[in-house]
Amino acid sequence: SLLDKQALLRGSVREFPDFPSPGIIFRDITPVLRDPAAFSAAIDLFEAYLREKFPKIDLIAGLDSRGFLFGPSLAQRFGIGFVLIRKKGKLPGPTESVSYSLEYGKAEIEIQTDAVDPGQKVVIIDDLLATGGTMSAACQLLQRRQADILACLVLIELKSLKGAEKLKPHPVHTLLEYD
Ligand code: PRP
Ligand code: ADE
Repeated sequence: SLLDKQALLRGSVREFPDFPSPGIIFRDITPVLRDPAAFSAAIDLFEAYLREKFPKIDLIAGLDSRGFLFGPSLAQRFGIGFVLIRKKGKLPGPTESVSYSLEYGKAEIEIQTDAVDPGQKVVIIDDLLATGGTMSAACQLLQRRQADILACLVLIELKSLKGAEKLKPHPVHTLLEYD
């Protein structure tokens, strides 16, 4: 069941206090990738949500770097493509960029100008929502390309940082919540 899958997933997330800096509890999803049952549980849960909510999806957009681990497998379930939103300076050709702040730093992300066509229905995916800085920068980039953002997906949401509020009106779907 979906609840069993969520429990399996929760058991596969580790925490590391004071990484990468003092006061941060780092939520490590690497054991999810190491266990094929946990990994498919994550993809199953995302797929179930999307099938229930959206009759048509054109593209999945993944965030550098941990969104890349989940997005392509999810896109395959729908027979649709995956596009990369990367940290600055990694993508060739014409790009657009947005700078943002995150739970433990500042950064800039970009997308290739031809990655998304105007009006395409896009779902964005990442491993974790903290302050929402990264996800909201991704929404800005996709909106500049005139994408229709259906939803933002994350395995983990750190509720106390209120990232989902920053993303309004875009729906956020989370598999696991932490304070
Ligand atoms: C982490 C995480 C999210 C982001 C969330 O990525 O994977 O992308 O931070 O934080 P925010 O909601 O406060 O923006 P990070 O920038 O550490 O990059 P990485 O995936 O390359 O490790
Ligand atoms: N990205 C931002 N905050 C994080 C956290 N606490 N754990 C893992 N990834 C993160």
